[in-house]
Amino acid sequence: MDNFERLCQKRRSVRKYTSQPIEQEKIDYLLRCALMSPSAKRTCPWEFIVVRDEAKLRPLTACRTYGSGMFNTATAAIVIALNPTLCDNTWMADGAIAAEHILLAAAEQGLGACEEEMKS
Ligand SMILES: Cc1cc2nc3c(=O)[nH]c(=O)nc-3n(C[C@H](O)[C@H](O)[C@H](O)COP(=O)(O)O)c2cc1C
Repeated sequence: MDNFERLCQKRRSVRKYTSQPIEQEKIDYLLRCALMSPSAKRTCPWEFIVVRDEAKLRPLTACRTYGSGMFNTATAAIVIALNPTLCDNTWMADGAIAAEHILLAAAEQGLGACEEEMKS
């Protein structure tokens, strides 16, 4: 099996985490991989916001009625904030691809991670 196929196999949604702090170098690596993500017409309709403060992470469990349990134990989150006014209706696809870059990079780095979609 090729390396990329192995990585795809390794990536699974992980929703409970240890308290082991994540090295800043690993967060930076995930961000670099996210920034290399493709977007329609190269509009890059995103901002990546790193949240590492527990006091800000824990309340995110309340952002939806279900499916937010990962924020009970997460030690970091990368918020992909998408701006629909910067593109022609492609923000959701652009954001989803960036999220997948982050999730695959996290799996490669041995980090558990899970995507959660939030709409305002
Ligand atoms: C767009 C999108 C939104 C998702 N939202 C959530 C979520 O809110 N909560 C959650 O626990 N998992 C969420 N997931 C993870 C899926 O449940 C998960 O990818 C799916 O069950 C397959 O499992 P796997 O990732 O381990 O292969 C989301 C996945 C995607 C692609």
